[in-house]
This record gives sequence, structure tokens and C-alpha cells, in this order.
Amino acid sequence: MSEGGYKNSARMPHKYLLNEFEDYARSAAKAESLMGYVSERIHRHIPRYNWVGFYMLEREAGGDMLVLGPFKGAPTPHTRIPLNQGICGASASAGKTIVVDDVNSDPRYLACSLETKSEIVVPVFANGKVAGELDVDSHSAAAFGAEDRKLCEHAAATVGRFLERRSRPRRIL
Ligand code: SME
Repeated sequence: MSEGGYKNSARMPHKYLLNEFEDYARSAAKAESLMGYVSERIHRHIPRYNWVGFYMLEREAGGDMLVLGPFKGAPTPHTRIPLNQGICGASASAGKTIVVDDVNSDPRYLACSLETKSEIVVPVFANGKVAGELDVDSHSAAAFGAEDRKLCEHAAATVGRFLERRSRPRRIL
């Protein structure tokens, strides 16, 4: 048996995934590899998470922009999202998790795939500011409950702490 003793890894409790992310974060060389790892593991282990990825906030002359980072799932046309657009823009602007049970009834929704029915977007905070976000789409309606929210918020916090450590000047001597 592997995956913390769980024969069927799709049933692995979220805490095992979160511990794995913490372990990976300790030795990851770059935030991109950590985000790629988190996306891949969550996507693989939770079948109703059909698209999992990160957007990072970039300062641009015309205003802040969410730029697509590592993701797992079908390619999306939304590789750059202004803060006043989409569920992604709303979550980053408010600095709050947004859960949408039925994306077709939310006028903010930017469609990635016709199959998507529900979505959760969780901000990644570094040094008290939104640095990016974790976005998950599901082909099932109302796929994201309290446990999903906890998993996504903890995963985003692991990435946030990694970004904070990277931004701190390192002592050489
Ligand atoms: N649906 C998002 C856009 C990103 S895709 O889901 C990957 C939104 O409404 O902001």
C-alpha cells in the first residue's frame, strides 16, 4: 500500500494531501514547482475536481492582472484575467474565497469549458496581500462543500507561506 496506507488513493483523506504539500514545500526550488505539484495531486486524487490551477497577480502598467500559472485539466482561453472580470477577479479583489454552486446562474462567470457546473476560487496571501489564487472547476453542480473549502484554503496557504519565505532576504553568513 502507498499514499499513507490508503489502497484507493482517491479516498485518501485531505490531511494526507496537505501534509504532502508541506513536505514538498520544504524542498521545492520554485513556487511554480510547488503550484504544479499541488495542482497535479489535487486533480488526480479528487475526481470531481476537473480543472485545478493557479493564477498569479502581476502588476502591469494598465492595472493588476491575474496571469495563468501551473494548472491541470483542459487548456483554458482565460490566461489573463483583469481584476474586474470573472469569479477569479472577484475573489482576488475581495481577498475572499468564492464558491459558486451553479456557474451558469452567476453573471460574473467566465466560461472555460461548457461542462463546468461549479467553481471555487481561493486567494493566496503572502505578507498579508493577495499574491494569486487557486481555482478549481467541477463538472458537477455544487461540488464544493466545507471540506473542499478547507482543503483548498490550506493548500493556498502552503503556497502563500512558500512565497513569503522566498521574499525574505536570506542570511548568507
Ligand atoms: N471561471 C473563471 C475563469 C478561469 S477558468 O475557470 C480556468 C472565472 O469566472 O473567473
